Amino acid sequence: MSVAAIILAAGKGTRMRSRRAKVLHELGGEPMIARAIRAVAELKSDPIVVVVGHQAREVEHAVNLPAARFALQEPQRGTGDAVRCALGQLPANFVGDVLITYGDMPAVKSSTLRAFLDAHRKKRAKLSFISVVLEDPAAYGRVIRDATGGVDKIVEFRDASAAERAVREINTGCYLVDCALLRSALAELKPANAQGEYYLTDIVAIARGRSEKIEAWVATDATEFAGINSREELAAMEAQIRATVNRKLMQAGVTIVDPASAYISEQAEIAADCVIGPNVQILGACKLGEGVRIEGTAWLSNVTVGPRCHLKLGVRAEDCVIGEDSEIGPFANLRPGTELAGHNRIGNFVETKKARIGRGTKASHLSYLGDTTIGEDTNVGCGVITVNYDGYEKHHTEIGSRCMVGCDTQLVAPVKVGSDVYVASGTTIVREVPDGALVMSHHPQREKAGWMATWRKRHGDSPDGSLLRKKDH
Ligand code: UD1
Ligand code: MG
Repeated sequence: MSVAAIILAAGKGTRMRSRRAKVLHELGGEPMIARAIRAVAELKSDPIVVVVGHQAREVEHAVNLPAARFALQEPQRGTGDAVRCALGQLPANFVGDVLITYGDMPAVKSSTLRAFLDAHRKKRAKLSFISVVLEDPAAYGRVIRDATGGVDKIVEFRDASAAERAVREINTGCYLVDCALLRSALAELKPANAQGEYYLTDIVAIARGRSEKIEAWVATDATEFAGINSREELAAMEAQIRATVNRKLMQAGVTIVDPASAYISEQAEIAADCVIGPNVQILGACKLGEGVRIEGTAWLSNVTVGPRCHLKLGVRAEDCVIGEDSEIGPFANLRPGTELAGHNRIGNFVETKKARIGRGTKASHLSYLGDTTIGEDTNVGCGVITVNYDGYEKHHTEIGSRCMVGCDTQLVAPVKVGSDVYVASGTTIVREVPDGALVMSHHPQREKAGWMATWRKRHGDSPDGSLLRKKDH
């Protein structure tokens, strides 16, 4: 039997005190709505209807799921009204259960939703919802049961009597409802409550009035159903997600020197015996092979790092591949499109961009290598620059294998240097250099004997410059 899903995400989230809609605030490097959607999508729900309102366009963009459909709710007149808006996006002939959750409840696991669905079906219930029992039930809706323990209704905190407020079993906001029942019950909602809203929770009493089978599925881990309402709660959940990631990695054999300062995405794949030093961010879909060592203070986003690489202090790398046994940094900037074949060295203050660099090639100091292809076992000297930009377009530089590119060389692109080329230091390369050549563009060196003493004398100084040195001190 099929399941459709409705995710409520129209609310602004006043307590965030933000211009941005609440569900757009990020957790674990992505908008919280994306997390909420993923849990539902893993259930293979179809369709998934997202109810949007505040910043509808941006929220739709953040959902990033081809199968999603959107329903606009404006104005926001309550959770029941929101679900009513979503019904229009379900196929008219849809038969089956509808899962309803919130976009601001990002910690719910798909395995929990799966267990909830199984229980709902096993009990042959027409309406189920997930409840939890809390020490402090705060302002959540209370689950009111009858003398036999059957669910009677959900009462919102603001509408609850003192006796009802004493109940510690609360409604999490996750429901499974037979679609036909949902449609007909929603039609009966009235905004006769403290907030003047259409409450989705009222469908429980309506279904009860019709003697439909209702189940409250009591979840054991209440933390999964924590909603995000404030920046503090956002930070707390971020810390929780991070701690879980770190714990799993450490259990799998990764050393994290200081877990409090390791920010590792859930999508990251980190092999055993990697060492993550302090203050490291590993974002997006990074992959680290066995034995990779990150000294510390690194920022990596969507980077694949081969086995046994050593990332020294201060590496920033984005959308790139670092082949096995490479040594990067300290202070290196590997920009998107950098592909190192392996056994490479990219040293301090080297910046690479769209650079395909062959096995064993090294650039150890102070270089810019952009829009370039370099062969194997080439040595790029200190201060080498690919001059790739003419103010309008970027141009490509090709350097072959086994070259010695001297210090302070500029390669004015587009340009090609063959293999086994020796580039003398300080050369400006402006046209193709054939294989095996020596290339230089030196001005011939000249000397004027005794010039320095003459210069000093002209300034009233002694031949050894003692006056000038005194002035300096
Ligand atoms: C709701 C439940 C309450 C439950 C609690 C759990 C109702 C009436 N009450 O209360 O029983 O304990 O959730 O967190 O349902 N939304 C819309 N459109 C609207 C109103 C809300 O899309 O018109 C969305 C919000 O963006 C949010 C979700 O629905 O994602 C819940 O709304 P919220 O106002 O937070 O509900 P609560 O008052 O907390
Ligand atoms: Mg509310």
